Amino acid sequence: MNIGIIGSGTMGISIAHFMAQKNHSTTIFDSSKISLKQGKKKLLTLLSKLKEKEKYTEKEYSNILENLNFAEDIKKIKKSDLLIEAIIEDSEVKKKLFTEVEKIVSKKCIIATNTSSLSITSLASSVNENGRFIGMHFFNPANLMPLVEIIPAIQTNNKTVEESKKILQEMGKTVVTTKDTPGFIVNRVARPFYGEAIRIFEEGLANFETIDWAMKEIGGFRMGPFELMDFIGNDINYTVTKTVFEEFYFDQRYKPSFTQKRLMEAGYLGKKTGRGFYNYIDESEKNISKNRELGKNIVLRILAMLVNEAADAYYLNIASKKDIDLAMTKGVNYPKGLLKWADEIGVDTIFKILETLYDKYCEDRYRPSPILRKMTKENIKFY
Ligand SMILES: NC(=O)c1ccc[n+]([C@@H]2O[C@H](COP(=O)([O-])OP(=O)(O)OC[C@H]3O[C@@H](n4cnc5c(N)ncnc54)[C@H](O)[C@@H]3O)[C@@H](O)[C@H]2O)c1
Repeated sequence: MNIGIIGSGTMGISIAHFMAQKNHSTTIFDSSKISLKQGKKKLLTLLSKLKEKEKYTEKEYSNILENLNFAEDIKKIKKSDLLIEAIIEDSEVKKKLFTEVEKIVSKKCIIATNTSSLSITSLASSVNENGRFIGMHFFNPANLMPLVEIIPAIQTNNKTVEESKKILQEMGKTVVTTKDTPGFIVNRVARPFYGEAIRIFEEGLANFETIDWAMKEIGGFRMGPFELMDFIGNDINYTVTKTVFEEFYFDQRYKPSFTQKRLMEAGYLGKKTGRGFYNYIDESEKNISKNRELGKNIVLRILAMLVNEAADAYYLNIASKKDIDLAMTKGVNYPKGLLKWADEIGVDTIFKILETLYDKYCEDRYRPSPILRKMTKENIKFY
């Protein structure tokens, strides 16, 4: 296949890496020559390191290099069968680009956007023949993370949906399909992992080192919420939360936190600036209170909030049960699918935790999804 990629930033480069590795001829264009040069250098350096580490044979390495083309002229994407846009997250800039792209590529070319937060339907409106327009949300780094969320716009035709799924599955990706709603599956369902952890910290129930310890040690998560926010970048994580909050017409469930906003304002962005919740320059001993009872309560509270999001997404037909669980295990490495986990803990137990929180705080943030209420009443499981 001929793959066209627009944008040679973090995502464009890692999607190109993946495609070239899967033996597809891949052309990358960026409107900034400097970005294109930087992206190329970054990718070639990574590939040569991987070859040194014997992740690729000489033959594989030379094939990947042969498959990669860096173009300073957008017309070089002309032959694309699949075009993936990965430029800055700006609706107007993206729409302008799609109008231009449509004039260059063939009518058969699938036009996909990798946007994390914009409406696919709104972006599709910039293309005349928009039945072939679709959202393909890859995860960072796209060459390693197996998940891709497929998001049909209102205008997308079935053929495009089926072809897109097939193409990605044949390349070995785990594909889930989701409705065009804010945050799709992962960025919506994962919000409480960060938000509820910060809330527990703000209330002074535990410090962030202890919350991270509990989520890893007792919850089985690979990283604690605060470590993960520092890793993602507090600027990026805060912005995603804020966008989801605004897009959901200020639903209190997604309310961002001042704690994280202040860190962002201070430039404490996390690992990349040497300081976030943790200090990476002057690393001091972590102050963890290894109280298992407290740890268990922390995990259950965050987990109940996560399950509530997953259950509500299912209730509102955002995606299937299976896809919601797959998205969280393959997209953000959760130890278990949240709905499967709810069955194990007991849907009634989850519901009770939420109801207790709702009673205690009288905040809409803790309102249980109607499906949990119904399932508890009727004593049914997700699977
Ligand atoms: N970074 C992530 O973890 C992540 C994950 C999933 C999806 N996304 C989405 O992927 C997209 C790209 O994100 P990123 O982190 O790679 O951004 P980035 O800032 O690293 O790169 C963006 C690139 O787009 C180029 N660009 C800007 N306007 C352009 C135009 N009109 N034409 C061609 N190139 C243009 C810039 O020069 C830059 O090289 C965004 O929509 C983002 O929401 C990002």
